[in-house]
Amino acid sequence: MNHLELIKNLPKAELHLHIEGTFEPELMFEIARRNQISTRFKSVEEIREAYNFHNLQSFLDIYYEGANVLLHERDFYDLTMAYLVRCREDNVVHTEIFFDPQTHTERGVAFATMFRGIHQALQDAKKEWGITSHMIMCFLRHLSEEDAFKTLNESLPFKKDILAVGLDSSEVGHPPSKFQKVFEAAMSEGYLTVAHAGEEGPAAYIWEALDLLKVKRIDHGVRCLEDEKLMKRIIEEKIPLTVCPLSNLKLCVFKTLKEHNLKKLLDRGVKVTINSDDPAYFGGYANQNYIETAAALGLSSAELKTLAANSFEASFLSHSDKEKWISKVTSQN
Ligand code: ADE
Ligand code: ZN
Repeated sequence: MNHLELIKNLPKAELHLHIEGTFEPELMFEIARRNQISTRFKSVEEIREAYNFHNLQSFLDIYYEGANVLLHERDFYDLTMAYLVRCREDNVVHTEIFFDPQTHTERGVAFATMFRGIHQALQDAKKEWGITSHMIMCFLRHLSEEDAFKTLNESLPFKKDILAVGLDSSEVGHPPSKFQKVFEAAMSEGYLTVAHAGEEGPAAYIWEALDLLKVKRIDHGVRCLEDEKLMKRIIEEKIPLTVCPLSNLKLCVFKTLKEHNLKKLLDRGVKVTINSDDPAYFGGYANQNYIETAAALGLSSAELKTLAANSFEASFLSHSDKEKWISKVTSQN
């Protein structure tokens, strides 16, 4: 089987996906129109032309701008359902999605409005297509810890449907230590924890995420190779990294995909996974990330299967579900 077919056929889990980052310009236009919101863009093409980023912040500015047209429960439903359709096409059978409440509550959208729209779409995709999911609520790290506490409190009525908390947005200058107390409070409410660290920020932020925020996975984490002691810990403790190759390329974390360190990490025995991060902005959903990374780094079929198996191992699925999917991965030829 060639790589393309293998990638299509492999069942996969996606573990690093911002639902606001799946907002395709066509849907953005449609929702802006029905909500009677005017944007500075005149066409879908103009929006796409603006997607030229030189670092994380240059992307975040436009990503938050795009989210401004989301107002009603139906908007969040349509956004999420459009992503789930792509999951089905890519054989992503399980997804653990990030959502950023503060992006919406700051604009006056109620937590419940946003939450119910996303959650209903996830429920419907499970019923229709058997796609399973978890929800991970991210705090925006450029805002204060006090603001994160407010968001944590707003989430409590919906706690049974939120598995974990995470940390995203502008990394440099906003270390994990800034959020230690709110993560402790989240854990005492029963939430698991993850955090973006070592995307643009230093390896020291990965240490902090592990030691202070007690994270189960590191989102991105590609700068871990700069610290050999950290590498040893990540390998020994089997700490998964949710790597996003096309995101790293578009945000200039690596100049070219050929220079991406994913294969080096894989060769060292790190539990790396491939994910799409913000696919509407970075030019590809899960399979496109697998395809382009495999081509650039010369990944073998065995390595592709390891990556798919890692996606389930690193997930928050039950032990028996992990076993079930991993055996389907290994039985692909
Ligand atoms: N929010 C959406 N995508 C992000 C990324 N790649 N890093 C940090 N925050 C984000
Ligand atoms: Zn991310």
